[in-house]
Amino acid sequence: MNKKEFAKRRQRLIELMGENSIAVLPSAPIANRNRDVDYPYRADSNFHYLSGFDEPESVIVIIPGRPHGEYILFCRERDLSKEIWDGYRAGQEGAVETFGADDSYPITDLDDILPGLLEGKEKVFYTMGNVPSFDPRIVAWLQHLRGASRQGLQSPSEIIELDHSLNELRLYKSSAEISAMRTAAEISCQAHIRAMQFSQVGKWEYQVEAEIIHEFMKHDCRSPAYPSIVGGGENGCILHYIENNHRMKNNDLLLIDAGAEYDYYAADITRTFPINGKFTPSQKALYNVVLDAQKAAIAEVKPGNHWNQAHEAAVRVLTAGLLELGLLSGDLESLIEQEKYRDFYMHRTGHWLGMDVHDVGDYKVGGEWRLLEAGMVLTVEPGLYIRNPDNIAKKWHFIGIRIEDDVLVTKTGNEVLTAAAPKEVDEIEALMAEAQAAR
Ligand code: GLY
Ligand code: MN
Ligand code: MN
Repeated sequence: MNKKEFAKRRQRLIELMGENSIAVLPSAPIANRNRDVDYPYRADSNFHYLSGFDEPESVIVIIPGRPHGEYILFCRERDLSKEIWDGYRAGQEGAVETFGADDSYPITDLDDILPGLLEGKEKVFYTMGNVPSFDPRIVAWLQHLRGASRQGLQSPSEIIELDHSLNELRLYKSSAEISAMRTAAEISCQAHIRAMQFSQVGKWEYQVEAEIIHEFMKHDCRSPAYPSIVGGGENGCILHYIENNHRMKNNDLLLIDAGAEYDYYAADITRTFPINGKFTPSQKALYNVVLDAQKAAIAEVKPGNHWNQAHEAAVRVLTAGLLELGLLSGDLESLIEQEKYRDFYMHRTGHWLGMDVHDVGDYKVGGEWRLLEAGMVLTVEPGLYIRNPDNIAKKWHFIGIRIEDDVLVTKTGNEVLTAAAPKEVDEIEALMAEAQAAR
């Protein structure tokens, strides 16, 4: 993302905020892993969205119409001895020159400077609760201003949730964002292909995960967008299975839900395929129900349709399929109405996708499902998860299937960004047979 993209985003926020206002956005805290080991730092998505600045201990301040510049970035000072141990810091000069801040001050000066910036503004855009350690500081600065009203200082009268404005902006992807998402999607497709080629009875699930991570990193994605799910057989029926520590068995399916993060943008793909390369008849029958449901849902992704139409389409095809295979019995319409599919399909058909895998943006507006518009990106991910209830024939037991693609809403319909990852039964079997022959 270039500097102009970040400047454009700040400009849009400034327009939404209006006059006499100030936005304050602290960076995410560093997360401790164990004792003196921290997790690799990943800036909060909103923070990166506005600044492209990825250092901890920083605060973005935006003041529409401020004569000396609308964008102030507080960050750590340069410090050679600290940088020798912990890495490079941009400092105040870098904040201005590299990251386009109009002004930059040391983070240690925040308490001295921020009350003065808040003074005289009517509205403060700040989200309580995101960085709990920062909330009391905001409260203290506001209290200080209120207490000083006798000296003629004016304290803000309104606190408005900053996230709400940013979430709306982030829901509509710019061409630069779509381009990053395309790259994340392409790399993730390659990783799923690699996993299919690698899969073999007797290998461990985490060995497949290693192949996926290798493919991500080789193509400049330093991290998955979320912990990869690699579940063989019954593990595929655990929706958030991330242990990935079982040996893969003959005649089981492998469910992989994995996506790369590229330049802060996520892909989110699920593919399910036979570990030994060949679907059994019952696996294939159920798989094709899920695939048909997914295609029916994707067909509902177009401008003017509402958010829930894809889910409704998926539910209809899944329920009809379960009925046809004898996993449900009764009348289709009443089964749908009574949500009988929920024993086998307990999650929803998708979510917004962007900088966060479960991205921001409201799903309902004024109590109604949101209408889709060009530039939105969402996942379409129906599944079926049959455990081993007594009333279900054994041939269906522990088949877990999900098929997930990332879909961009275009002016005329949609584009599946993750189409390069095979999902037809024939395609998957051919790809795996070829890999087996080459071993
Ligand atoms: N990978 C998380 C999800 O599919 O929602
Ligand atoms: Mn998803
Ligand atoms: Mn997923």
